[in-house]
Amino acid sequence: MIGVILAGGEGTRLRPLTNITNKHLLPVYNKPMIMYPLEFMRDLGITEIVLVAGRSFAGDFADLLGDGSGYGVDLTYRVQEGSPGIAQALGLAEKVANHKPVTVILGDNIFAVKKAEMIEIKRIVDGFDSKPDGAVLFLKGVSDPERFGVARIDRKGDICEIEEKPKRPKSNYAVTGFYVYDSTVFEKIKRLKPSKRNELEISDVNNMFLKERKLKHHIVKGVWTDAGTFESLFRATVTARGADTRKAGLHSGRRGV
Ligand code: DAU
Repeated sequence: MIGVILAGGEGTRLRPLTNITNKHLLPVYNKPMIMYPLEFMRDLGITEIVLVAGRSFAGDFADLLGDGSGYGVDLTYRVQEGSPGIAQALGLAEKVANHKPVTVILGDNIFAVKKAEMIEIKRIVDGFDSKPDGAVLFLKGVSDPERFGVARIDRKGDICEIEEKPKRPKSNYAVTGFYVYDSTVFEKIKRLKPSKRNELEISDVNNMFLKERKLKHHIVKGVWTDAGTFESLFRATVTARGADTRKAGLHSGRRGV
C-alpha cells in the first residue's frame, strides 16, 4: 500500500495568507500544516508516500521535506496545475501506485486521536492492505456539515448516500479527508465528469464505490479538523497545541487553549 498526500489547489479561502506561500506550508501551532498529515501517515506505518503539490510552490515542499528520510518516509513528488479537484490530484499518483491500494489524506486535514484509536485505524488500514476490496471512509460528527462531504447512514449502520456540501445536510457526519481505496479508484477517476464548481470531486468517486456496495466506514472518536478557512485554521492550531502539550505531559486534559 502506498500513501498519497494531496496538497495541490490554490487555497483561495485563505487569501491574503496564501498570496505569498502555499496553504499547506502555513504554521499550525509549531510546524507547517503539511507535517501533520505526513506524520499521521507515517505513524500508521505508511512510508512510501506520493505528495501532490501545486505548481507555484512545489519547490518549497521539496525544500522543507526533501526525500522524506528526515521524517522516516520515502517521498515522491507530483505536480498539479491549477485546482482541477481532489480526485484529479489523486489520479496523478496512479503510476507510482502501480496497481497497489492507496491510503489518501488531504494536506489540510489534522487528526488528534488517542493511541488506542490510532491502533484501531492502523488495524483497518493493514487489514485492507492484506485484502484490498472497495473503499473505507472515516467519518466525524460535526456541527457544520454543510462545509463538507456528508454521509447519510441507514438503519443497518451502512452509508447510503454521500452529498458534497449539501445546503440541507441529511446528517452531521462529515466525510473526513482520509480515505483508503483499492486500485480501481484510478479507473473510477477516469470516468468522472467535472462538477458545477468545475472540479473532479472525491465525493463522486466515493459514490461509485457505494453503488458497487463496496464502501465501508469508521467513525472517528478523536479530534479531526480541516484547516482551509480562517476559523478552521485557528481550530487546527488549538487542536495541535492541545495534542502537543498533552503529549509533553503539560496539559490537564482540558481541550484547546
Ligand atoms: O476536509 C474534508 C473535505 O475535503 C471533504 O469532506 C469534502 O468531501 C472534500 O471535497 C474536501 O472539501 P474542501 O472543500 O474542504 O476541499 P478543498 O478544496 O479545501 O481541498 C482540500 C485539500 O485537497 C487541499 O488542502 C489540497 C487538496 N486539493 C484540493 C483541490 C481542489 C488538491 O490537492 N487539488 C485540488 O485541485
